[in-house]
Amino acid sequence: MSERFDEIKQEILDGIGGLASSKAVYEFKKQFLDSKAGKIGLLMKEMKNIAPEERASFGKGVNDLKEWAQQRFTDLDEMIKAKELEHRYEQERIDVTEPGAEMKSGNLHPITQMRNEIIDVFSGMGFEVFENKEIENDYYNFTALNTPKDHPARDMQDTFYLSPEFLLATQTSAAQIHTMEAKKPPIKILCPGKVFRSDDDATHSPMFHQMEGLVVDKKITLCDLKGMLDVFVQKIYGEGTTTRLRPSYFPFTEPSVEVDVSCFECGGKGCKLCKGTGWIEILGAGIVNRKVLQNCGIDPDEYSGLAFGIGLERATMLKYGINNIKLLFESDIKVLEQIDNN
Ligand code: DAH
Repeated sequence: MSERFDEIKQEILDGIGGLASSKAVYEFKKQFLDSKAGKIGLLMKEMKNIAPEERASFGKGVNDLKEWAQQRFTDLDEMIKAKELEHRYEQERIDVTEPGAEMKSGNLHPITQMRNEIIDVFSGMGFEVFENKEIENDYYNFTALNTPKDHPARDMQDTFYLSPEFLLATQTSAAQIHTMEAKKPPIKILCPGKVFRSDDDATHSPMFHQMEGLVVDKKITLCDLKGMLDVFVQKIYGEGTTTRLRPSYFPFTEPSVEVDVSCFECGGKGCKLCKGTGWIEILGAGIVNRKVLQNCGIDPDEYSGLAFGIGLERATMLKYGINNIKLLFESDIKVLEQIDNN
């Protein structure tokens, strides 16, 4: 009988070497250890053919063989499972040092960036922000701003009239009147908005953006204006940039000034950008005309104000060296991608 045990042992040892998966181990193991049909289990059934005096040692022999086989299969199973796990780890391995897929993110339009930057600067000086209206009536856009009908200054702006009374806002200055009608001094506001004029060339577009600033309080002077604008140009065009005020004319300010910024390209020495002068015209401003304060019920003997109007396209074109305003409106992604200040 012990040859039969040895045969089974040998059969197991021979078969085991070729098993490559835990499933194959399981199937092979069943051939021997299945309680009904397994070869080792079947040996027990032969007990009745064994001489009674040999039965004890036969029974022990079968049990030993069973234990031995079980141990073999358990060891093998553990080894194969470990290998399978290793293989799985290898396959699912993640290289954490591999650079991630590049995420393309959009950016804000240059005009919006400029608008946000300016709002940031003036908010820091305590200005509140109000949106401008795009459709105005003649009174707010002109008359209340000391530009009555027949005033020659109306010709400075080619207006789109919607009706004899209503028009597309030609300037954010109308926001000055709305604000002063609604609020008592002290006033410190910034009004961004779209404005419209019948004008179209390399530096003008029928629709463009302005940012109006208005401060009304006791004893406001041109010094306050210059101080605020100096902070503004330094933040937008860089440290060391300064302003100079030149006499000008706007009906709603007296005195009126044209504000130049020292050329941030050449530092004032003279270059192509500043046409050799060292200065670049950047915005219009002035001390609010007494008549405008009166039109809004504010006593000009008690209060004075300063106002300024910044053209956002112009400010942006200067900052990024853009020479044609159309580039800002064509939404060419190649252009827009180059202008990202965020
Ligand atoms: N509204 C003027 C324009 O569109 C710009 C301007 C000039 C605004 C002087 C002002 C100012 O507030 O004081 O040309």
